[in-house]
Amino acid sequence: MGISYSEQERTFRLNTPHSTYLISIVDEAGFLCHTYYGRRVPEDDMRSLLRINAGRLPFRTSGQQAGFLDELPVEYSCGGLGDFRESCLRLETAEGCRVCGLTYVSHRIYGGKPALPGLPAAFGGEEDCATLEILCRDQYLDLEVRLLYTAFENLDAICRSARIENRGGRAIELTAALSACLDMDNRNFDLITLHGSWGYERMVSRRPLAWGKQGVSSKRGISSHQEQPFLALAEHNADQTRGQVYAMHLVYSGNFLAQAEMSQQEQVRAVIGIHPEGFGWKLDPGGSFQTPEAVLVYSHTGLGGMTHTLHDLYRNHLIRGPWRGRPRPSLVNNWEATYFDFDAEKLLDIARTAAARGVEMLVLDDGWFGCRNNDDNSLGDWFVNEKKLPGGLKYLADEINKLGMKFGLWVEPEMVSPDSQLYRAHPDYALQVPGRPPILSRTQLVLDISRKEVRDCVYDQLHKVLSSANIEYVKWDMNRALTDAASFCLDADRQGELFHRYVLGVYELQERLLRDFPNLLLENCCSGGGRFDPGMLYYSPQIWTSDNTDAIDRLLIQEGTALLYPLSAMGAHVAACPSHTNGRVTPFATRGLVSLPGCFGYELDLTRLADEELAMIPGQLENYRKYGPVFHDGDYCRLASYSENHEYDALMAVSKDKKIAVIDYIHVMSRQQRRDVLLPLWGLDEETRYRSSETGEIRSGAGWMYGGMLLPRMKGDFSGKLIVLEAV
Ligand code: GLA
Repeated sequence: MGISYSEQERTFRLNTPHSTYLISIVDEAGFLCHTYYGRRVPEDDMRSLLRINAGRLPFRTSGQQAGFLDELPVEYSCGGLGDFRESCLRLETAEGCRVCGLTYVSHRIYGGKPALPGLPAAFGGEEDCATLEILCRDQYLDLEVRLLYTAFENLDAICRSARIENRGGRAIELTAALSACLDMDNRNFDLITLHGSWGYERMVSRRPLAWGKQGVSSKRGISSHQEQPFLALAEHNADQTRGQVYAMHLVYSGNFLAQAEMSQQEQVRAVIGIHPEGFGWKLDPGGSFQTPEAVLVYSHTGLGGMTHTLHDLYRNHLIRGPWRGRPRPSLVNNWEATYFDFDAEKLLDIARTAAARGVEMLVLDDGWFGCRNNDDNSLGDWFVNEKKLPGGLKYLADEINKLGMKFGLWVEPEMVSPDSQLYRAHPDYALQVPGRPPILSRTQLVLDISRKEVRDCVYDQLHKVLSSANIEYVKWDMNRALTDAASFCLDADRQGELFHRYVLGVYELQERLLRDFPNLLLENCCSGGGRFDPGMLYYSPQIWTSDNTDAIDRLLIQEGTALLYPLSAMGAHVAACPSHTNGRVTPFATRGLVSLPGCFGYELDLTRLADEELAMIPGQLENYRKYGPVFHDGDYCRLASYSENHEYDALMAVSKDKKIAVIDYIHVMSRQQRRDVLLPLWGLDEETRYRSSETGEIRSGAGWMYGGMLLPRMKGDFSGKLIVLEAV
């Protein structure tokens, strides 16, 4: 088991294959102190790694605690007693007191990992991981905090969360309950985060860590297009293969804060969890609150090591259900092909063209329900528009099935249009402040998914629709941020709970859907990639990456996404040109290569393609069938980034047995040709000999990696190549 406790040293040890995490109980008071996190150290190295001056221990200085606490690396920070850095736990008692301090009470170590009630979380059996629960207490408040740590046997990942329980006789209001805190010394760290906007999600940002607080957050009610619930502290010289990296990623789909802070002594505190702004949770006597889970990853092999650990953790211990590890069907989605302007015949035309070339599924997007012919109305009215689709979804699905294809459907269950039967019947189902006109976005309002009757009303409709035909895939969309966040059903002193209750409601709905339709392939979506987070991945093994389907913009979007998420999670479609997002024209073949590593599909009117483009489809699908499993299940290696060299993009996936590697190379911008591109490779087996599909040349893995792969500079912008290295 990777977790132990030394009575003598009063220290807990969590070991993963290459990392050690140490927690000590300090001083007679029993402060819970963060001792060490980093590369694995021998069993003998324990408490000596604690970076505090023993002479300043409170019991040696007659209880002088304030200065001591502000320097103490802690496990779960609280405010008001001298630690002036960010607090994980903030509260207010019935008397208005905001002070809190936790000390050790007891602990428990066991194999496996508990589920978190109502929340998505990584899972693992006794053979995969072990869990440590440390019970802490504020004796003056009668408040207990249980810190949960799970260390994985084969992955350098530790999952953390906290459960807070009011054991006293009076209510306590939590005003912040973050998931994890990581106190370290600065090691010339860079802070890495992902930022973006609609159509430009998950751009990588890297900057030197500075004094004070810096980080990313969302207050939109969704994890957002703008920022990702993630941060990494990477040594300044860390690159894809070298250097130490510490990452934190939150398994959550709502408001979050991910923040690093450098304090007076050049100590670094990184915290992650639900954003405290707008958050409140009333703990009645006996009440408890479970925070979402934070994933901590340590890598001594640079960002590539961090990426591999996250990919493996998510593929094997977060994604569930029958679609885990299974090839995902290629699809054609009608959104960019027709928008709202379709009928059954048009869809069947597209399906026939697709089926004849081997596409496996047709997905019917927005516009099939209520009387929706534009985005002004009908959300909430989840019954088929028989004018557009005579015979309903059953007829359409049957016809598509007859072509040998699966049928999938788009829904947006969390929303309501003011112009809908649902809203006219139940205006109070929408989030809004009584007396204040609610803010519209895309002419729609957000349903109060925190309410059970609202969830039931939407779910019953969905259940009926999905039972009406052979629907094997659902795209669950969510097209606006939360505003006017007030619920008709929460007491005034509980309105701060709304954002989190909303997220719990979404999780409950998706859980129900998967329970009732266990073979369903679910793809989450949020105006593109506005809710691309590990929480959603627990319910849907794939997520729509971005509404921006331009192949060149997608290079950067997919690079940022793949830094954290397996390629099997990334919906990626070949779309029409000129691009509907930015007007760019790129060759059909290149669009195919850019989409190939993800969950591959088409999002254009196939009936309008030129013959030479149509003729390319079977080859693209053949590549997806052959190499999709290498991209989806193998190790992803970022070889070159267009954001750095401004000329080309290259990624490689290496199968786990190292027998095959596939390089996806996109030449973006032509320049004056000085010399050929020398592509450095990594991730191959040094001794295996690989043949290049490009030149037939055979070299050892070492030869390819350390010698690099020479690629003749391609002429013309936006061209690409797929190169396969196969073991001989
Ligand atoms: C969102 C999605 C798109 C499409 C439209 C339909 O923008 O991201 O893929 O489904 O909604 O309205």
